[in-house]
Amino acid sequence: MTLRTAVVYGSARRERSGIKAARFIVRQLKERGHQVDLVDSEQYQLPFLDLMYKEYEPGTAPEAMAAVGDIFARADGYMVLSAEYNHSLPAALKNLLDHYQSEYHYKPSAIVTYSAGPFGGVRGLINLRAILAELGTPSIPSAFPISAVGSSFDDEGNALDESYDRRVVKFLDEYEWYANALQRARDHQACEDHVPTQQALCRGGD
Ligand SMILES: Cc1cc2nc3c(=O)[nH]c(=O)nc-3n(C[C@H](O)[C@H](O)[C@H](O)COP(=O)(O)O)c2cc1C
Repeated sequence: MTLRTAVVYGSARRERSGIKAARFIVRQLKERGHQVDLVDSEQYQLPFLDLMYKEYEPGTAPEAMAAVGDIFARADGYMVLSAEYNHSLPAALKNLLDHYQSEYHYKPSAIVTYSAGPFGGVRGLINLRAILAELGTPSIPSAFPISAVGSSFDDEGNALDESYDRRVVKFLDEYEWYANALQRARDHQACEDHVPTQQALCRGGD
């Protein structure tokens, strides 16, 4: 079955560079047949956390929050892009992630970090892994650090350093393994639980 992947990018800076890396990942996933939603904190401007999405009465959450909630609920997995800000993740990304909870459960995430310098944002990675595990979307073992993000991609997300095109293959292979495995497990569970909307997919279903 087709995988749906939400690519999550959170930087509120006016001269942000990570959007180019986000477009690179979107492009790579689409080429592999994923249905991709880019969740960019600039497009979906969520307020600083007051109520989580689940705490609103149905139909009363702000439009952008509901739109991201739908994307996250439909996704089979999350590709989370994070810059390194003072050895951790950007506040805009954390704020975006914190609004949701059950939408993530039983689905994998994969971490792409980046920085302007040579270290590829790996110090932020450590914080982000712990956060994603707590959210219920454990991250796959491999990560994809990107150094010199400003000069590694063009504005459309094409890699200017072709080693990124080579390196990303193994990373995305691994992500797909986990996303497919957990998608099958969720479908199996839905069959066991006799979830009506899943019965057409279940062996022996109507
Ligand atoms: C507030 C702030 C803190 C930063 N801290 C680090 C850091 O600790 N380590 C690092 O390698 N780069 C650091 N940088 C550089 C960023 O990784 C780089 O500017 C990156 O492009 C930011 O992502 P963005 O352009 O998508 O916002 C920092 C940048 C900002 C704005």
